[in-house]
This record gives sequence, structure tokens and C-alpha cells, in this order.
Amino acid sequence: MKIAAFLPKAYTKNVVSGNVTWKSPSNIALIKYWGKKEDQIPQNPSISFTLDACATTTKLSYKKQETTNTDFSFDLFFEGKQKDDFKPKINTFLQRIEQYLPFLKDYHFTIETSNSFPHSSGIASSASGMSALALCLLSLEKELNPAMTDEHFNQKASFLARLGSGSASRSIEGDLIVWGTHEDTVGSSDLFAIKYPYKVHEVFKNYHDTILLVDKGEKQVSSSVGHNLMHNHPFAAERFAQAHENLTKMQSVLADGDLKEFIAIVESEALTLHAMMMTSMPYFILMKPNTLEIINRIWKFRETSGSNVCFTLDAGANVHVLYPENEKDIVYPFIQNELIKFCQNEHHICDRIGFGAKKS
Ligand code: DP6
Repeated sequence: MKIAAFLPKAYTKNVVSGNVTWKSPSNIALIKYWGKKEDQIPQNPSISFTLDACATTTKLSYKKQETTNTDFSFDLFFEGKQKDDFKPKINTFLQRIEQYLPFLKDYHFTIETSNSFPHSSGIASSASGMSALALCLLSLEKELNPAMTDEHFNQKASFLARLGSGSASRSIEGDLIVWGTHEDTVGSSDLFAIKYPYKVHEVFKNYHDTILLVDKGEKQVSSSVGHNLMHNHPFAAERFAQAHENLTKMQSVLADGDLKEFIAIVESEALTLHAMMMTSMPYFILMKPNTLEIINRIWKFRETSGSNVCFTLDAGANVHVLYPENEKDIVYPFIQNELIKFCQNEHHICDRIGFGAKKS
């Protein structure tokens, strides 16, 4: 699929005003996207579980202007309050997607957005936030062109969301999503994410992700700074090759339900992501002492109980604790008794694998 496929043809309808609301989830990568080229093209393929509870709800109201604006015209409300400091990010996003949605300057938009998780939780809202906005804007395009197919809608939503934030491309559908061209994954693309196209064992259908909020502060390294660290990184080429290999290995793991191998890949990916940050120039340590405490307790518990609980990390100190549904009665008490004391104010979020964004 080429970029040209996302340039619209002439619209068949005129839409004067209206509104649309989408609730879009966050996602957690099992194989990490870390490093990108121009135009939000990933350096390696990634795969994620779509989440369910952690989500952004965005209402987009639109009103056609008498004449086309010279700039984008929009008001932004976050959790009911006008939020002008988010506007530059949205403006950049609109600039990047304008050629694919040429009607943007014909309207005034009101964007009202809120997250299901607390703002200061350290949970990145760019995946859910950018995907929700992309979906709203694409719903308007579908009104202008009602002939658009559902398949094209999902692909283009992911394509646009990617231009807002790479991981947002993986937040349109569920439950297992691949983004980035991978020679062993049919249909995979750097331009948009797809539903994982192969067999998935039952054990992965109801996976839990309990998110332990170790550090709720502002991100120490923004994602754009973080991805840039992979330019001229001494281990970059090996890392990108490893992600390809891990995704190939993951295919038999997902088909067979091989949890031991699943744990090995997922935990190694998380630690490799942090290793990349520790070995870049400048270098960062994003884990906190409590992150390590939690990891060590998970390893100990796994050894003594035989459980298949494991962890993954994003680019911060918080820990995602992953476990299958049939182990929740042993793992959740363990989390409560042994892990939540390492969270800020015992704050944690019980999430699980989800099935993608929903229009309301
Ligand atoms: C560590 O998607 O936040 O969570 O494309 O610059 O918006 P931008 O980056 P972003 O990067 C996420 C990186 C990660 C790993 C992952 O989700 O795959």
C-alpha cells in the first residue's frame, strides 16, 4: 500500500455542522517501537496488546466556515477546561495530516477530550489521545464520502494516528496489533498498523495488565527525544534486527500458547528498551529503585509459585504486570500484598486486553 492511497478523491457530500465522539484505548507494546525515521516511519516492527480501561474520549464538533481559514481554527478543552498549552501539538498534527484531509481549514473545530486515567499518572496519553482525534476527523471525512469502506476507514485512521504519535497507530483496533513492515507478517506496513493476522492461542485472549504507577511525575525523556537517541546509537542496527527476529519468534509463541517463551521475549524487550536508553549519548536511567524491587519480586514469585506472571515497561518507571486470566486468583493477591506498596500512594490500574476504539 502506498501513501497515495490515503489522498482523498472528490467528496460527494456537503457537511455544514455536526459532532462525533470516539473512545480510543491505550496499548502496551510487547515488542517495542524505539527509533524512527522521517515522517513517523518506525525503525522496526512492533506488536502490542490493545488495552481496555485506559482510554481517551474525544468529542469533535465541527462547523463549516463561510470562507476557508488561512490557519487551522479550533478550541481545545481537556477535562472541561480550555487547554491552550496542548494546542501547538494539535496544530503540528493537523499540519502533518492536512494533505490527507484537505477539508481541515474549511471548518472551525471544538475538541473536548478527557482521559479515563488520571492526568498525572505517568501514563502516556498520546496513543489514546491521538488515535481518538484521528478517528473523529476521519468520521467527518466519512460523512463527506459515505462510500468509504470500513477497511479503508481503519487503515486510514491508523495512518493518520501514526502521524500524531507512532504508538497511536496501534490503538484503532484490538486485540493484538502489529505496526511496521515485517517480512514474516503478511499485510504489515510502516504506514499503518494491522490486526495480527495469524492464529492466537486461547490463553492470550483475556490477558490482564495491572499497571503499577511507580512514578507519576512528568516524563523525564519525551518520546521525541527518546527516539532520537537511536540515531547514531552504537547498538541501533543490532536492536532493530532483534525486533524483527523477536516478532518472528513471537508468532509460534502466540500460536502455541508457549508462556515461558512469551515471558522471555516480553521481559527481554522491556529491558532492551531501557538498555538502549542507558547506552545512548546522552544516557538516561528511567527505572526507579521501586521498579527494580517490583521486577525482583515478580521473578521470585514466579520461581516459588510456578506462575506465568511477567512484566513489561514503557519509557518510564511504571511497571505493567501481565498475566493470563486463569492465574488472576493467585497473581492479583500477590500484586496487592507485595507490589502495590512500591507504587506512589499505592496507585495502580487494573486493565486488560481490549478490542479497540468505539464510536458513541
Ligand atoms: C516506549 O509513540 O510515544 O512506548 O511517535 O514520538 O509519539 P512518538 O512516540 P511514542 O513512542 C512509544 C515508545 C514506547 C514503545 C512502544 O509503545 O512501542
